[in-house]
Formats: sequence, structure tokens, C-alpha cells
Amino acid sequence: MANDTLLIKHTGNGKQVEYPLLQSTLGADAVEIRNLYKDMGCFTHDPGFVSTASCSSKITYIDGDNGVLLYRGYPIEQLADQCEFTEVAYLLMHGELPNQQQLLNFNQEINDRAVIHESLRKFFDGFHYDAHPMAMLVGVVGSLSAFYHSEMNIKDPVQRLRAATRLIGKMPTIAAASFRHSVGRPFVYPRIDLSYCENFLNMMFSRSSQNYIDQNHYIDPGYVKALNLLFILHADHEQNASTSTVRLAASTGANPYACIAAGIAALWGPAHGGANEAVLNMLAEIGTLENVPKYIAKAKDHNDPFRLMGFGHRVYKNFDPRATIIRKTCYQVLEKTQSNDPLFELALAVEEQALKDDYFIEKKLYPNVDFYSGIIYKALNIPVEMFTVMFAIARTAGWVAHWLEMMEDSSMPISRPRQLYVGPPRRDFLNIHNR
Ligand code: SDX
Repeated sequence: MANDTLLIKHTGNGKQVEYPLLQSTLGADAVEIRNLYKDMGCFTHDPGFVSTASCSSKITYIDGDNGVLLYRGYPIEQLADQCEFTEVAYLLMHGELPNQQQLLNFNQEINDRAVIHESLRKFFDGFHYDAHPMAMLVGVVGSLSAFYHSEMNIKDPVQRLRAATRLIGKMPTIAAASFRHSVGRPFVYPRIDLSYCENFLNMMFSRSSQNYIDQNHYIDPGYVKALNLLFILHADHEQNASTSTVRLAASTGANPYACIAAGIAALWGPAHGGANEAVLNMLAEIGTLENVPKYIAKAKDHNDPFRLMGFGHRVYKNFDPRATIIRKTCYQVLEKTQSNDPLFELALAVEEQALKDDYFIEKKLYPNVDFYSGIIYKALNIPVEMFTVMFAIARTAGWVAHWLEMMEDSSMPISRPRQLYVGPPRRDFLNIHNR
């Protein structure tokens, strides 16, 4: 209720203080606890922020128990079914779906900003051919700060919006350039006549002899549709680790390119965005249907570091709605590409056996967004080491939306968590001869 509070009592000294409960639109309320240390002389302790809201936000809502995901109030299933990715990016950034003219203008601006400075393109020459594309992405996106220093006034809403659209526009170009460098192919420039996803596929797979999209502009619409869907599903996910990293960096006043580069770095971890690459590697390691029970047992064994990649989630204790949509799309894409990929059969078998297993049932471990996405990327001929890069392209929309939301709130303090100190008490220095 509106004036509910949380009463906290210190049983040691009997002091008790009431803290206001901040009301949510949907989901859990939050207790306003920032004065706890001043009032009670102690901190809260919540490693990994399991029960801690780091901010308030209007962008995305997740109901983990019921497998619900809303972008600005719209169910992900409806957006995934009816939108193009840039339409969803606009929604995340502005809070409302664009009308036709707004979308036309937005697509035009994104397309205009897709090109990268020729000097930035030369950065790729410094990487070994076998550098991981995520290493290139982190480095090159962070370097954008060096090219737009004249437009870095983060207090200016016009410059903020320009930086946001610039990042969304350039991410596919930088991503595709990372791939081209790794396979020794010449860089392909974005085209003004192609959509966001068409451009990316063209920049990735065109041969110098012929464009991936041939002269009469043909590209398999099924491929574009599948990529568009994956980008929408990966666009945002409230305060996940990489978005929280972007917000923490932004709280210091760092420029947007540095903040997004920090988000890319955080996304790379196999517990987060790196899981899609790890799932494919795991399925390849499992190899055959006969091996599935052995790996399920390994995942359950606490003495074995092996985890079932693509399974489990901090928030979803039910099916990740994105995994459900992606699994359905797998069937469509594999049918189109006539590739009855044995890894898909294997993934279905792993899911079926895990979901019947008490360990996974009790711990509410379900397939997450990363479990099936790699199957589709593979069918689109995207190499495994590019999978997390694909995640970063899509999540740039969410990262910049959260950055914009945060920059609009001038009251946002610098993020500076405290700690529970458990180190040695004060002691005097001993010189080396007395140790
Ligand atoms: C993403 O936050 C987001 O929103 C992220 C994301 C987004 O869109 O931004 O949704 C994208 O990162 C999806 C998650 C991708 N990662 C993986 O698929 C890696 C495998 N999953 C796990 O590493 C794990 O499930 C996490 C990291 C996803 C969640 O970890 P939590 O919430 O900290 O849970 P936990 O590690 O405390 O696990 C709870 C229990 C533990 O057992 P107990 O210690 O209680 O006995 O479940 C077990 C874990 O051992 N467990 C698993 C498991 N995941 C959790 N056991 C085997 N296999 C797994 N995958």
C-alpha cells in the first residue's frame, strides 16, 4: 500500500527504524534503505545483488516466476512477432513505439551512422587474424571516444541521443569488420539501400566478387526474419550484469562509448553473454545422444565445475520466454536451411532430460535465452566465436536506453557500494628482518 514501511529493529541495542517501501508498477516493491548505515551503523550484505534494486527504471519488466518479459509494457512475444529491431530499439530509447514517419527517420539516421571513420577501420590491422572478435569489439568501441570528443557533453540531450544512435548504427559495422579481419577478407561498407539486418548480413558475408545481397536486392527473407527476431529478443533485460556495468560506469560521468565498451566486456563472461558460445562448445563436447546422461550428472555434481551452459537464470525460475520463442524459430530456420543440425537434436535431448531431473526441477533451472540461439546463428553461418558479438549488437539498444534514462535523472549519485570488511585488524609494520 502507498504508505507501507519496513520496520528494522537492531536486537542488540533495541534501536528500530521504519523505512519507506517504494511502490512498483509491477512486481516487487523496494525498501528505501540508503539511510540504514546512518541510522543503524550497519550495511546490507547482498553479494551479486540477489535482493537489491540498484535503481528504478521504466524500460523493462521481468516476472521470473511466470516467465514474463515486457519492453516498456509490451509483451516480448508481441514485439518479436510484429516489429523490426530498430522499431524496438526506438521503443526502448524513447518509451513509445514510433509512428511510420518516426521509424523512417530513425532508420535513416541509424543507416547514416553505420559507417565508421577510415582511421577507425585501420585499428583492425593491429589485431592478429585470430584475435577473438569480442576482444576487437571491446577495443574498437572504446576507441570511438577518440573520434567524437567534440560531442561528448553528456549534459546535452541532443548530443546524448546522437551518441546513442551512433552506437546502434556502428555496432553491426564494427562487428562485421571484426569477423572479416579474422577471416582475412576485405572490409565491406554498409549500404544505404539495406535494412539493419540486411546490412549486417551483407557486411558479414559479401565476397569481393559479388554482394551477399545480389544486384536485384535478393536476400533470403527467412534469414533476415530470424536475425531480426534474435536481435529483438536480446535487446534488453533490466539490470543484468552488463547493463549494470554500463550504469555503474555512467554514474562516474564517463563518456557513452567508454560505458558501452565496459558493458561489452562484462557481457563476454560465460556466465552471461558468453553462454551462447559456451552452449555450442558444450554440445560439441557432449557429441552424441548417448553422452547426455553423463553430462547431466556432471552438471549436478558439485565437485565438478561443469555447468549446463544455457540453463538457469538469476531471475527466471520458469521458462525464459525468449528461449521458448527461439526454440520454435529453430525448427523454422533448420527446415529452411535443410540442415537437420545434429546439435539441435542434441540440445532438445539435453533439455528434455534436464527438465525431467529432480536436481533441475528443485533448483528451477530452465533453458535461458542462450540455450538455442547458437543453433540459429550456426544455421545462418555465423561462426561460434561471433555469437557473443551478436548478443552485443542487440544489447546495445538496451544499454543505450538505460544510459539515456540514467543521464536524464540528474539526481543519480555515483555508484559506490560498501563492503563487509573481514580482513586483519590494525597491526604495525614489521621490517623484513623481523618477519
Ligand atoms: C544471460 O541476468 C540476465 O538477465 C542475463 C541474461 C540477459 O538477457 O542479460 O538473461 C543473459 O546471461 C543468461 C544466462 C546465461 N548463462 C548461462 O547459461 C551459464 C549457466 N548458468 C549459470 O551459470 C547460472 O544459472 C547463472 C549464472 C545464469 C545464474 O546464477 P545464479 O542466479 O547466481 O544462481 P546460482 O549460481 O546461485 O545457482 C543456484 C543453484 C546452485 O546450486 P546450489 O549451490 O544452490 O546447490 O543452481 C545451480 C548452482 O550450482 N545451477 C546450476 C546451473 N545454474 C545454476 N547447476 C548446473 N548447471 C547450471 N547451468
